[in-house]
This record gives sequence, structure tokens and C-alpha cells, in this order.
Amino acid sequence: MKNRTIKIGVISALREEQAGLIEQMQDAITVQRGMRDYVSGRLWGIESVCVLSRIGKVAVAATTATLIESFGVTHIIFTGVAGAAATDVRIGDIVVASQLVQHDMDASPLFPRFEVPLTGLSHFFSDKQLSSLMTQAASQFINQDFLETVSEANRQEFLIDRPLVHEGLIASGDQFISTSLELNQINDNLPDVLAVEMEGAAVAQVCFEFGIPFAIVRTISDNANEDSPVDFVQFLEKIAARYAFGIVRQFFSLVQENKVHLS
Ligand code: ADE
Repeated sequence: MKNRTIKIGVISALREEQAGLIEQMQDAITVQRGMRDYVSGRLWGIESVCVLSRIGKVAVAATTATLIESFGVTHIIFTGVAGAAATDVRIGDIVVASQLVQHDMDASPLFPRFEVPLTGLSHFFSDKQLSSLMTQAASQFINQDFLETVSEANRQEFLIDRPLVHEGLIASGDQFISTSLELNQINDNLPDVLAVEMEGAAVAQVCFEFGIPFAIVRTISDNANEDSPVDFVQFLEKIAARYAFGIVRQFFSLVQENKVHLS
């Protein structure tokens, strides 16, 4: 639909993944619903609602449905961190989901493994246009902002050299993946997975059911196995928070340019 007013819902699971955005908002008004704070206002001139979903599929599904039903968002983006699930995906890289699957969904023998009952689907596609803007935003962040946003000391601490932006399959489940055994099981069953996290596929399912275009972007924080090279909290503060703000800022600037063309 051309020229309709767009209102973007911006979800993150954790405070650090949305650092700086509320402060950036103009005319911000906070409304509480179901134990979440929904902050409505304008971000870089665009009507938006920011919310922290907390962690896991149920938490984010409830948040996503509320954003759509109570706050009337027309598009949704999710920013956060994820574990790497493919050999060419490294800590500090960015993954934009082209599709998402719930790796812990198994209603077999009633339905095929991974299929969300009564949808006929196991993989949910993110919106092509929004995701392409998100990939562009992530690349612009890496090429234009990364070196000045993330200090050399922090880049060295987390061994981040030249981050790459990937597009592909993200798998979500109510499980923090921290052993090779768990990761191998996911890789064996879903060989194309680039990253694992705990919310994206739930956002995807709810958006699919309500017909809302969405995009999911994740900064890789760990290798989803037992070598824990990073202090997760430090990574969130020193790296993920900078990435999230930088990527979202670039994304909103691209949306401004493409606004009338958004579906
Ligand atoms: N989010 C960040 N790292 C993750 C991991 N290893 N498993 C699940 N969710 C994550």
C-alpha cells in the first residue's frame, strides 16, 4: 500500500540490545501492558514503538501480538544477539534472517518434525524488502560506522577483525545453546542454519499469522558451544549495544528513503 502511515515496532530481548533508542525517541510516551513497557514516539522522524520482550519464544510472541493488536504497528524489526551455527559465521558478524525455524518444535507423529501445527509450515520467510533494507543497513554500519563505534581495544578483546554480513536461516528455541552436542544436533537436522537464538522464529510465526512484514537482525556473540571466549555481559555492553544502535539508525535512514515503496 503506497503512502500509508507506517509505524515500526522495534523489539529486543534485552536492554543492551536496544541501548540508546529510547533516548533517541521524540515525544516518547510509555504504556505498560502485560509486564512490558511499550515506548511510542518518533525515531528519526518515523512513528515507532520500542519494547523489550524478555527472553524466549512465549515472551516475544506475547510482545509481538500486543505490538500489532494494541499499538497498531505496520512493520516489525527485531535486533539482538545470537550464537554462530555455521563455520563461516564468526563472533562480531551480523546475520539477517531470510527465513526462520523453531528447532525445538516437534509434534511428530501428528505433524512432521519442525512444522508448526496447522500452519503447514516449518520455515517462515521474513519480508524480502524489509530484510534487504536490513542487510543494507548492516553493511553500511560495518563499512561506515564500525571502526569509530567499536573501539580498537574492544575489537581486540573480542577478536573481531573484519565483520561479515550474512543472510540466511536462523533457528530459534527455548534453549541457550552452549554445548557442541546441542549445536551438532541442530546442524544435523537443519544443515543450513547460520545462527541460533531464542526469539526470532516466534516473531516470524506471529507476524505470518497477522500478515505483518518483519525483519530479524542478529549480532553473533558466541559460538554456541562450550568454548566461551566471551564474557556475555561484557559483549552485550561493549559490542552488541553499539551494533544494535548503529544498524537500527542506518535502517531508519534507509526506510526514510524508501518509505513510499514499503509494502
Ligand atoms: N543468543 C546468543 N547466543 C545464543 C546461544 N548460544 N543460544 C541461544 N541463544 C543465543
